[in-house]
Amino acid sequence: EKGGYEHFMLKEIFEQPQTIYDSLRGRLSLNPAQLTLSGITQFGNELSQAKRIVILACGTSWHAALWAEYIIEELCRIQVEVDYASEYRYRNPIIEKGDVIIAISQSGETADTLVALEKAKQQGAIILGVVNAVGSSIARLSDAGAYTHAGPEIGVASTKAFTAQLTVLHLIALKIAELKGSITAEKFTQQLTELAAIPEKVQQILSTQHEKIKLIAKKYKDAKDFLFLGRGYSFPIALEGALKLKEISYIHAEGYPAAEMKHGPIALVDEHLPVVFIATKDFYHEKIMSNMQEIRARKGQVLAIVTEGDELSKEIAQDYIEIPAADEMLSPILSTIPLQLLSYYIGVELGLDVDKPRNLAKSVTVE
Ligand code: M6R
Repeated sequence: EKGGYEHFMLKEIFEQPQTIYDSLRGRLSLNPAQLTLSGITQFGNELSQAKRIVILACGTSWHAALWAEYIIEELCRIQVEVDYASEYRYRNPIIEKGDVIIAISQSGETADTLVALEKAKQQGAIILGVVNAVGSSIARLSDAGAYTHAGPEIGVASTKAFTAQLTVLHLIALKIAELKGSITAEKFTQQLTELAAIPEKVQQILSTQHEKIKLIAKKYKDAKDFLFLGRGYSFPIALEGALKLKEISYIHAEGYPAAEMKHGPIALVDEHLPVVFIATKDFYHEKIMSNMQEIRARKGQVLAIVTEGDELSKEIAQDYIEIPAADEMLSPILSTIPLQLLSYYIGVELGLDVDKPRNLAKSVTVE
């Protein structure tokens, strides 16, 4: 059942070229560029007129939500608010006519998310679900949505469900932008073309970086703390990298927007602190490079995820993992892969039960 892999987590990491493809299949086509998402088109008017979209989720799904905030605001020019379902359910949230709620959940059974949605629904909000488990409670409560076609995820730590969430959320953002007219035909085609190339690029990372990441994991496995830094579209991925490491290796890790480093976390930096940078080529690249230099100057260990061929970043980092170039909005899907493998191999090196980390449950059906 593990298909020859030692753990479900590794199997699920390696399934991602297929699961991302499955989330695109039947929805995206090129020449001409077309996107079919009936669950979204059904609420086309409401979405194109929405003043605000609120995204509710927990854990890894909340990281997907945070990423979607950047994407939707950029492509659709609609204000997005992201909230932890557990906070939302006990606040007295403001829901205005025409607000649209997006719920993200792998299991579709997370108690906090479910209750938060029930609350929003009672107040008249439209609920769109981005759910993996077909027919689950959150899927049934949603008015419409788009399933992530990641298949059953057995490993307690979410891997393939997360990249499927990013994929589907990107499709949703593009569909809303198309309906709203906030994207040019050229940009729409470019984005779909880039998205269609993602499965193959994920495969390339798995094939070329896998062995290297094993060695890096051996080197860093005894660290007591880690920092994960990224900016812009990559900031939520830094949070996800830190969460994955905590779950799988029980090593304390924190994710931060790279520029926040100076406002506190930099005090932690010494020769014992590995700092993982998502330093791929995007708008922030030069700024991230100077952040890496600042860490080096304080003797921290820099492990960078870099874009293939970026010699400058490779020189600054002690260790690096290369990923193929991609559109800056989509590159975070690629950066996620090495971070998953890093936590997996650190967990394995430490002899831990990576498929069932202590104290965690696959779906959190109690609050
Ligand atoms: O099933 P959901 O997506 O609603 O679950 C939300 C979180 O409980 C989940 O993502 C959790 O953080 C995972 N252990 C992450 O690996």
